[in-house]
Amino acid sequence: MKNIPVSVEWCDNKLCLLDQRKLPLEEETVICETLDQVYEAIRTLTVRGAPAIGIAAAYGSILGLEDTSVDEINRVFDFRLNRLVHARPTAVNLSWALERMRSCWKSNNDNSDIYGCLLKEAIKIHEEDRAACRAIGENGLDLVRRHPNLLTHCNAGSLAVSELGTALAPIYLAKERGFDVHVYVDETRPLLQGARLTAFELERNAVPCTLISDNMAAHIMSEGRVDMVITGADRIAANGDAANKIGTLSLAISANYFGIPFYVAVPLSSVDPDTQSGSDITIEERDGSEVTHLGDMRVAPRSVLARSPAFDVTPAELIAGIVTEKGILTPPFGHAIQKIMN
Ligand code: MRU
Repeated sequence: MKNIPVSVEWCDNKLCLLDQRKLPLEEETVICETLDQVYEAIRTLTVRGAPAIGIAAAYGSILGLEDTSVDEINRVFDFRLNRLVHARPTAVNLSWALERMRSCWKSNNDNSDIYGCLLKEAIKIHEEDRAACRAIGENGLDLVRRHPNLLTHCNAGSLAVSELGTALAPIYLAKERGFDVHVYVDETRPLLQGARLTAFELERNAVPCTLISDNMAAHIMSEGRVDMVITGADRIAANGDAANKIGTLSLAISANYFGIPFYVAVPLSSVDPDTQSGSDITIEERDGSEVTHLGDMRVAPRSVLARSPAFDVTPAELIAGIVTEKGILTPPFGHAIQKIMN
């Protein structure tokens, strides 16, 4: 996408990842040449955002195998998939992409160009995400046109996907087509994906935006300045419950209190029909130091206990609609999800 560095790129049998931990101050690329480097890059949020980690894992599963015999690939591939899938637990895109790689491997395990087939599959996953994001943008455009004063959380933009984004995709298209929009950007404690990444993206594309700390969102809504809240999601359960960055649940509750529609935008690769409801979703628990510190600076007493659950679950009843590449799903989501996934 114009003006925004790409988060994941396959370059000459290596995986180039934009180091998102360093944005917006530095634009640095990390080059991965081994499976372990990709595992670490996902675990440490060098690459982050549900679709982007799925794409990175698909490429990561074949890293370094270009000169490897078919027998050797068959010997190591299952181990590789199983290692990467444990890098982070909440975003279903990770296991979804790795299962795609597994099926491709299974149907080509006696093909002399198995590496070529696996690479083609990873490229396909990457390209499908590009198309899905564009379609999400088109499908959500009318919503944004009718609700031009938006609020978003975390980063569901270009940096979190192949390009364009999920929640930010309709906003970019609205701006491109000359509609007035304004976005309140939640800073998104503790790792500040809103302040560091979403504000960076929107600024780069001249989308009018205002950064707020997370605890200001309800107040801004009470002032009547928000027409719609739109976020991404890392996993949508079969009943429509949506896991997304910690803090999304309080936004959804506030939005519902003030009668503001709360939308989620995802590619279907983030929908998990095998998970019945939000209570079945594993929530990643990160190190408490993310809360006791702001970057490298400690802001809390040394002995205080701190927790850092990285996601929360918004119950389906608080969600007005789910914008996907195949259209906008509306309640009751159980039925809509079943229909669209078939
Ligand atoms: O911990 P992160 O930065 O990977 O969390 C990302 C989010 O919560 C995003 O909102 C989500 O992945 C949607 S990305 C299009």
